[in-house]
Amino acid sequence: MKSKQFPKHFKWGVTISSYQNEGAYNTHGKGPSIWDTFTNRPAFKKGTGNTATDFYTNYKADIDQVKALHLDCFRFSLSWSRIFPQGTGEINPEGVAFYHDVINYALDVGIEPWVTLYHWDLPQALQDLGGWTNRDILTWFETYVDFCTKTYGLKVKTWIILNEPMSFIGLGYFMGMHAPRKKGLKNFLPAAHNAALCQSLGGRIVRQNVEHANIGTTFSCSYVRPLNRRVMHKNAAQRIDALLNRFFIEPSLGLGYPTAAIPGLNRIEKYYQPGDEDLLAFDFDFIGVQYYFKIVAKFSLLPPILFAAEVPAEKRDVKTNAMNLEIYPKGLYKMLEQFNQYSGVKDIYITESGQCFEDELIDGKIQDKARINYFKKTFKYTLKAIENKMPIKGYFIWTLIDNFEWAEGTKPRFGIIYNDFKTQKRTLKKSGLWLKSFLRKR
Ligand code: BGC
Repeated sequence: MKSKQFPKHFKWGVTISSYQNEGAYNTHGKGPSIWDTFTNRPAFKKGTGNTATDFYTNYKADIDQVKALHLDCFRFSLSWSRIFPQGTGEINPEGVAFYHDVINYALDVGIEPWVTLYHWDLPQALQDLGGWTNRDILTWFETYVDFCTKTYGLKVKTWIILNEPMSFIGLGYFMGMHAPRKKGLKNFLPAAHNAALCQSLGGRIVRQNVEHANIGTTFSCSYVRPLNRRVMHKNAAQRIDALLNRFFIEPSLGLGYPTAAIPGLNRIEKYYQPGDEDLLAFDFDFIGVQYYFKIVAKFSLLPPILFAAEVPAEKRDVKTNAMNLEIYPKGLYKMLEQFNQYSGVKDIYITESGQCFEDELIDGKIQDKARINYFKKTFKYTLKAIENKMPIKGYFIWTLIDNFEWAEGTKPRFGIIYNDFKTQKRTLKKSGLWLKSFLRKR
């Protein structure tokens, strides 16, 4: 496979995020976010993103790398509390200037900036008022998006509203594993509904404020298979699929939540206000598919409502990554097929995909063959999808530099560039070298 085989205008990019990369967590006027709170509590022992990869200081060198790798686009997110330290109200001019600098630098070196408005780092001040569970977030988010699009909209044309709503709502407001550590349906349902409303609301604001905007939002997805052919397991797999892969895209397409597949979730209607059905829909120019692993599902009495559980990858004798998740490149193809079946979906970008390992620096080098293998295979499946007439317009690698992997800390390394977190010294991994030569021949 050669990069030349991809369509001429296919976009190759890389994605990073504010909390996982920026650092400068309490300087230059930035207010605290829920992730600052999460990682700086004494009980959390996996480090913090206080410095992360210090993108705040290193952004020029990092964007230079994006260019040197022959990539076209650089996707990063804005930290809401760097711009509005208290979530709403007063604006932090230094924060606003920082993103102007990042955008200008990318444009200067010929890299297209792609901006994500929300990649999980909610201002703590808003969480203190209930965060995503409080319907006022529609107004807070509107103010934030309106400001960002009016401020950067002449220079940035591609806007992504939310990064993976099911991840930050599911892990943060249902399982309690991510910030802000809330649990249960009483948090999940209102938070999910407000996030789904903000997803479309954000789209409408961008369309209003930015001329010639390319507007998308991203969805996490996992390829879900049943443990075996027994009907109970097949049904369990369907329910997990509805929750993980359909829950946020379907309302955006005007299809409502997939509650027919998981009847217990129809309690979400309790949080509806008149007109919400229509407000949930927005005509996105593209969707971002973010794929990492496969899931095997089985029937289980727990948790209630879902009545389904995952069979852990380590019990299945399959290839796993540093987070014990199954590495299954073909799943990307399956998910592209699944998302492409919706008639309302226009363009599709793979806005994130990648693999984590516990890479070690040996003699100044990182021999991450398994990562190269993952990219080779998923690139091949992307090409196959294009050949089969799916509208796949780009592939963004997760991620540029090993960064702070949320509740997992810095152990799982996803970068194509190795980071020494003590010195911030970057070393291109073998996968980075491979990508560079793959893209050079376009
Ligand atoms: C998220 C990233 C995360 C990556 C790897 C995606 O779900 O958008 O922030 O680091 O997965 O786990």
